[in-house]
Amino acid sequence: MIVTTKELFKHAYGKYAVGAYNINNAEQVMGLFRGNMDSKAPFIVQLSKGARSYTDKRMLEAMLRAADEIFPDAIFAVHLDHGDEATCMECIDSGFYSSVMIDASHASFDENIAITKRVADAAHAKGLVVEAELGQLGGVEEHVSVAESDAKLTDPAQAKEFVTRSGCDSLACAIGTSHGAFKFSGSQGLHFDVLQEIQKRLPGFPLVMHGSSSVPQDEVARINAAGGKLAGAKGVDEKQFLPAAKLGVTKINIDTDGRLVWCRVHREELLKHPENFDLRPPGKVFMAEYAKYIASKNAALGSTGQLDGVRASLKK
Ligand code: G3H
Ligand code: 13P
Ligand code: ZN
Repeated sequence: MIVTTKELFKHAYGKYAVGAYNINNAEQVMGLFRGNMDSKAPFIVQLSKGARSYTDKRMLEAMLRAADEIFPDAIFAVHLDHGDEATCMECIDSGFYSSVMIDASHASFDENIAITKRVADAAHAKGLVVEAELGQLGGVEEHVSVAESDAKLTDPAQAKEFVTRSGCDSLACAIGTSHGAFKFSGSQGLHFDVLQEIQKRLPGFPLVMHGSSSVPQDEVARINAAGGKLAGAKGVDEKQFLPAAKLGVTKINIDTDGRLVWCRVHREELLKHPENFDLRPPGKVFMAEYAKYIASKNAALGSTGQLDGVRASLKK
């Protein structure tokens, strides 16, 4: 069942975070739904601009409609990840998405508010909800690359004004994470002090943490042992998810980790079976391994076992 992120956040706020996972193809969709059903967790499926054009946006949307039928107990939101204004409007008009992210974090404060408000007005008129971003993460996203030196933590003093004037329903905050597999080169970490200040000014308002892959070191080691070259890859300690959830983070974005599972499985399977040229054997291993990974991630997020509670809260 497709619901809005707002409905999921209402149940999660202050207790756990909902995993927001990016997908690109059918194997990821199957592994994602299976993993969430195995752990009885609500979840958010994220489609980036790049994912929507990888095969065709209609292909991805059709796969999600099919998954909704194949897994009738699933409760999930369909969310546009890092949208620009035009893509947000297209997704709002499509009638398929339940939530969009407008990422105008590269613009000035006032311009970010103006763009976000236009998207929020259009989304709310059609029953969708909107995530916006204030501050800038480091790393590479599809339409914008931010050098670490240019990354800007969210200014808590601006957060309330931003939310009030823009009308957004949740806020992505920059608190020291970055996108991709190389998040920290030294002893940097998350700025819980900033998060705490934001929550103080916006009590009860859902916050979002991007760039939250944990880049498991055993995964990286296996990739490198099978011919990969990922020296120095490092992510967010998943022990920080629950403390973040207590401070108002209701959505935690994970994409890179899924790519690492894909990379490890395919490298290992093709090395182990050099005679194989069939896509299905490694594909099957990937779906099972990705499902296992999603279930373990949900345990760290605290979303494991929350599905029945969410279902009950939807009826209220
Ligand atoms: O934040 C970016 C997401 O990881 C999506 O990545 O634009 O390469 O699909 P992508
Ligand atoms: P990672 O690169 O850490 O997986 O972050 C994904 C993300 O923020 C998607 O919006
Ligand atoms: Zn992101």
